[in-house]
Amino acid sequence: MHAERLTPTNLKYPYVLNRIGVQLPSIAIIGAQWGDEGKGKITDYLSEEADIIVRSQGGNNAGHTIIIDNETFKLHLLPSGILREGKLAVIGNGVVMSMADMIEEMKQITDTGRSLDGLRISDRAHLVLGYHKRLDGGEEIYRGSKTIGTTKKGIGPAYQDKAARNGFRVCDLFDDVSEKIAFNLRFKKDLLKLFQNGECGCTEESIAEKFKLWKDVFGKYVCDTSVLLNEALDDGKTLLFEGAQGVMLDIDHGTYPYVTSSNTTAGGICTGSGIAPNRIGKVYGCLKAYTTRVGDGPMVTELHGTEGKYLMEKGGEYGVTTGRGRRCGWLDLVVAEHSVRLCGIASLALTKLDVLNGYRKINVCVGYEIDGRTEKHFPASLSKVSRASPVYKEFDGWDEFGPSEEAAKRGYDALPKNMRAYIEFIEKYLKVPAELISIGPKRSETIDKRAERM
Ligand code: IMP
Repeated sequence: MHAERLTPTNLKYPYVLNRIGVQLPSIAIIGAQWGDEGKGKITDYLSEEADIIVRSQGGNNAGHTIIIDNETFKLHLLPSGILREGKLAVIGNGVVMSMADMIEEMKQITDTGRSLDGLRISDRAHLVLGYHKRLDGGEEIYRGSKTIGTTKKGIGPAYQDKAARNGFRVCDLFDDVSEKIAFNLRFKKDLLKLFQNGECGCTEESIAEKFKLWKDVFGKYVCDTSVLLNEALDDGKTLLFEGAQGVMLDIDHGTYPYVTSSNTTAGGICTGSGIAPNRIGKVYGCLKAYTTRVGDGPMVTELHGTEGKYLMEKGGEYGVTTGRGRRCGWLDLVVAEHSVRLCGIASLALTKLDVLNGYRKINVCVGYEIDGRTEKHFPASLSKVSRASPVYKEFDGWDEFGPSEEAAKRGYDALPKNMRAYIEFIEKYLKVPAELISIGPKRSETIDKRAERM
């Protein structure tokens, strides 16, 4: 079957397109693997079509690289819309915010002469404080050989506080919360003693001072972002929800416990930004042409030794947030099916295909062999996953095709035949069209097939 034969109405998740190829009222970009799929670039590419760019979950554990006119930005908390004049960049209630780190990140933007006027922060977002970071490190030490490999940004402990109803929210900056500060400080100091990860250097006074500073710095950006977003939708504005991490790191559907502490699936957008499910339009799944993962936990298609190292170097697979080398392996369509099903992915943004240029043979995993049976769906039990061997379909590779910018200009049909066969197999397997083909980090290194499909 040719990709062209898939139309908006005969897909797994059919959708209706408007004039500019977007299903109103909003679009979402979700990482379909373990994060680091290239969502930053795709968000930036699609943000031209949106009025408001929204983050709904996670915190500065995320790292999005965006290249604009040869300037490289590494964003962790700020939605990438902040780089586009005239757009709003919204941090939703589901995000956990380290305001101390955010101040640094804001400087990166203002240093280039850009304005932060478009920033909006939910009054319901939770705060990440210094003791959360220390606890993150302490919990990892306490786990001994069973670490999760967190980013140590305090994300898990901040979400723990949220669920335990001890967290500080942005709106607390405007209230007298001295009793709550005293309680939390006592509690965290006791926990840190247990984890033996040093002292929490802060005092009640130093936290109150920080809250005052943050109120002064961030006050003008704070509002009820659910009201803002829903009114914008009522006014016919287009929203773009920028996912952080990836489906396999989702607290409910990922490789638990080797996950992050938020819902990275499309459902997390509703709870994390205060919009209803029927207001999410088309969901894009960002899928890297091979698999990577940072941190611990299972990865069935992982390539070990020199093969893995080669792919890591070729793809420049080092974490934006931690600098750690990412584990690399072949594309896993069992993982991709999990993501398509959970998020209603209607369109794929296939990224980093150029990294596979020059390979003689390329494998794609189409099932897991577990205890003599072939599984097509990602199992819940990690002991089952650890017994899985990948069932591969082998593809012939393709040669280098020269500068990606020129290849993108030549268009899809001029891509190497074997590369197109690889792409079309993925589309057919997942029943989802690859509408954006990314063959380099720049915007100009993208083949946009959406126009063909309207
Ligand atoms: P945490 O989110 O820092 O608690 O880390 C939990 C797991 O999620 C670890 O394996 C991290 O490496 C992973 N993780 C968190 N954020 C990202 C991301 O943005 N990209 C890739 N992996 C991430």
